[in-house]
Amino acid sequence: MAEAIQQLVLDTLAKEGEIKDTRTLILPGYKEPAATHDSQIIILGALNSLSSRDMITYTTQETVSHVLTQEGAQIALQGSHEARVWAACPKKGEGAPIPPKQLQEKVGAETAKVGQGQAFKNKWIGKEGDGLVKLVETITDTTQLQMREVDSTGALKAGEKALAELRKRKLVAQRKGQWFTVRKGANFSTSTAKPETDLTVDMLTSGSWKTATYKKYNFEADGIPPIGGALHPLLKVREEIRNIFLEMGFAEMPTSSFVESGFWCFDALFVPQQHPAREVQDTFYLSDPAESLPPPKDYYERVSKVHEHGGYGSTGYRAPWSHEESRKLLLRTHTTASSASMLYKLAARCRGEEDDSEETIKREGAHASSTVPGAGKAGPDGFRPAKLFSIDRVFRNETMDATHLAEFHQVEGVVADKNLTLADLIGFMRVFFTKMGITNIRFKPAYNPYTEPSLEIFAFHPQLSKWVEVGNSGMFRPEMLEPMGFPKDVHVHGWGISLERPTMIRYGINNIRTLVGHKVSLESVERSPAVRF
Ligand code: PHE
Repeated sequence: MAEAIQQLVLDTLAKEGEIKDTRTLILPGYKEPAATHDSQIIILGALNSLSSRDMITYTTQETVSHVLTQEGAQIALQGSHEARVWAACPKKGEGAPIPPKQLQEKVGAETAKVGQGQAFKNKWIGKEGDGLVKLVETITDTTQLQMREVDSTGALKAGEKALAELRKRKLVAQRKGQWFTVRKGANFSTSTAKPETDLTVDMLTSGSWKTATYKKYNFEADGIPPIGGALHPLLKVREEIRNIFLEMGFAEMPTSSFVESGFWCFDALFVPQQHPAREVQDTFYLSDPAESLPPPKDYYERVSKVHEHGGYGSTGYRAPWSHEESRKLLLRTHTTASSASMLYKLAARCRGEEDDSEETIKREGAHASSTVPGAGKAGPDGFRPAKLFSIDRVFRNETMDATHLAEFHQVEGVVADKNLTLADLIGFMRVFFTKMGITNIRFKPAYNPYTEPSLEIFAFHPQLSKWVEVGNSGMFRPEMLEPMGFPKDVHVHGWGISLERPTMIRYGINNIRTLVGHKVSLESVERSPAVRF
């Protein structure tokens, strides 16, 4: 259709030199000229396409015409309200006058109400007793005639005053329209063949390139967006959280050891060897190699002793110590395993040991080093205060569902200093979560084998309008810190939160599988906006 109209415009121009008024065109498949609003819209499409190729030029003429409203259309079809009232009344002297109630039933409440007044005024009907009768034999329903005229011509011969009256009565409405005057353009031709966009080998060998028309370069066109890498939403949120830690003076712990031993993941944290978290349904164990390298000997002995027999003011668990349990290799179930080994290194000088050199750290990784990033100056007892954080992956042998995967990310922080109190931990939490955009938080006493007291952190979720758990925290126990070599007045508090939960809230995701795993759409990753807390 579009092509055919373009052809019609070109042919008409070729024949007549100019199209003065596009309302005179007879579109393909029609008998009448294209006078209607819709047909001019279709013509405009063809004109725009032709003028973009400079084949024609055109000017636009605005028109105002009238169309019927819904009520106007009903009058055109059934007559005015007064005519319908008149028609419903019996002739004077022929039959019983119609009571108003019966009239209402016959023509409808609205027509009876509006029509009666006007029919009386026109002297078409009159009262007889309690009813109404016709006073005249025939009527001329001017309103209906006007509606029919507007419907077919868009105007009234009677002129603007009569139209204004009909507009006031809401029987007709104005409609802006347009029509066009068309002239030949610089590239006028009667062929609508699309201009070439490429010079091809075929065109060169056949010689058709000489006569072909070419599409002009459009230097204003937008370029194709380059395809580049995009950060996954989790990484964007990780970056924001990392910035919060850095601006609060924390240093990042090395956390590359996904595989840990039972010793560092549990024993060093004073998690009893019979603790349910250690069972295979909660923890992934390695079969090859199945055993870890031995942990530092003296420390290992102190840890096994505090578990089995107690010490440092604790009675311990008084259960037999299993060397095998301690040496098992596993996928770490929390990043607190890394925190434990970092704290052990932080206590190196308290034990009278030296720091390792930067080279040793580089060569042998985190575990080999007793240098702790960002640690403060050592006091006379060798203790160095430190604020450490990590954001990395952990693994749990869980049943997967919409909010649980077998691997996820933990955000973890530890602060080691002299005489820290629970008030320091709570105050710190408030600052940290406020920086994450979470201002309404509450604490609930909880239990962790390695902290006492322990606090779960709840935040009010405005969308869910309920309190949701956002983290877990506590003061590390002396049974954990003192075997490492820390003096008694050194207190360490720590907390952990998940990275996935704030990310899902941030991006309005309610199924974790749309965020992590093989079902993630790369497109959504590319489109996901940056995050600012
Ligand atoms: N490891 C705890 C968890 O996995 C978080 C935590 C870290 C709690 C440090 C207290 C201290 O939930």
